[in-house]
Amino acid sequence: MKISDLDVKDDADFKGIDEEHKTIFNFIDKLHDIANQPKYHEYAIVILNSFIVFFVEHAIKEEQLLQHYLPAKLVDKHVSLHQDELNYLDESLKTLSVELSSINIQAIAEQLELEFKTHIFIYDKNIMKKLMEVKRTRKTVIESVRIN
Ligand SMILES: [Fe+2]
Ligand SMILES: [Fe+2]
Repeated sequence: MKISDLDVKDDADFKGIDEEHKTIFNFIDKLHDIANQPKYHEYAIVILNSFIVFFVEHAIKEEQLLQHYLPAKLVDKHVSLHQDELNYLDESLKTLSVELSSINIQAIAEQLELEFKTHIFIYDKNIMKKLMEVKRTRKTVIESVRIN
């Protein structure tokens, strides 16, 4: 299930976040693709570096959106999950700088797929659901103030 499967299709904030999640999986697909092409193994480092830059920007954008609607405690928990993913990405880069092999690229691609499927389809989805509820409640309050 994608985040866009939530009832948020018309929401510009979610559309942007959802598109970025697709890009995250594109990076992982690229790593899978080149694992068995030794000629292009150097490219795995380039992909991973771009992935890290992209993920940092995505995490900042997502955290700002969360901060706007949700209590700090909840947001902090999610921020630390982003930090875990970032640590794993950094570790992966270190591993590849030591040994750039098919086995390593494959193992990293598989682990990243697992990490990000869990993050995006479970953690992001759950927190966006909470955010959506707050957003809806605020809208209802504003509308009822206008009516009265
Ligand atoms: Fe997230
Ligand atoms: Fe995300």
